[in-house]
Amino acid sequence: MEDWQSQVSTAAYELVTARHVVIFTGAGVSKESGIATFRERDGAWAKYDPRVYATMEGFRRHPEQVWQWYNWRRQEILKAGPNPAHRGLAELEALFPRVVVITQNIDGLHQRAGSSTVLELHGSFQRFRCSADCRGHPTPLPEPPLDLPAPPPCPFCGAPTRPDVVWFGELLPTEVWEQAVEEALQCDAMLVVGTSGVVEPAAALPRLALQHSALVIEVNPEPTPLTPRVPLYLSGPAGTLIPALVAAVRRERAGASGS
Ligand code: OAD
Repeated sequence: MEDWQSQVSTAAYELVTARHVVIFTGAGVSKESGIATFRERDGAWAKYDPRVYATMEGFRRHPEQVWQWYNWRRQEILKAGPNPAHRGLAELEALFPRVVVITQNIDGLHQRAGSSTVLELHGSFQRFRCSADCRGHPTPLPEPPLDLPAPPPCPFCGAPTRPDVVWFGELLPTEVWEQAVEEALQCDAMLVVGTSGVVEPAAALPRLALQHSALVIEVNPEPTPLTPRVPLYLSGPAGTLIPALVAAVRRERAGASGS
């Protein structure tokens, strides 16, 4: 048996008794769907300055440039589909009493793969709001067509429409964040998949799980700041390791019911 296969078997053995499983994901889970990550060598932030494309200040200064970048990203996401990692994670719902996905991704691919409870910490590429939040935070606006070269004005106040995603320096949506913390505090296992774990406050969630001795399993081809702290680190692409983990959990279940 290959090293990674025996690690997956160990993870499945530890995981199988969990009742409340949280799946915490980042851009790496969508990489095999063709969507670039942020901090890798070929990631978005290597080519596009996050101070321009991921701050309110950048949007104020360069509204058309930022708007067109989001139009392009929307197109990339619409062209993409869930990969075996998204689908495997969705299958876990059939194997454990409670499974909640907490994602930093805005691409909606967990939902398209069939996950039913998904907390989107950083918003969604399909939601838009008034950049002045003129009727309260947030002031939702309809999804504009993909070919607009500039952000359309809010019909209430005329401020530019913006994507309803979280930019640097902004708060996470309060209710979503509070529920995510609750899930992290109550789960008995957490799978941390495809995140560099360096963006706060999201990166605090695995630490909360570790603090109350939940089983934390990390899946990532590269080690992260979390890796030295987790009991189980599975090194490799999520599109291979997650389906293997799901299959190993099923084998554990079959073995337990057969014995
Ligand atoms: P990052 O780009 O920081 O990290 C992506 C992680 O995915 C890295 O640790 C990679 O090693 C890992 N990875 C690459 N390929 C993988 C694969 N096939 N399977 C599993 N993992 C793989 O992305 P995030 O951690 O999601 O925020 O970044 C967090 C936030 O920073 C994002 O939500 C975004 C960004 O700025 C906002 O835009 C607000």
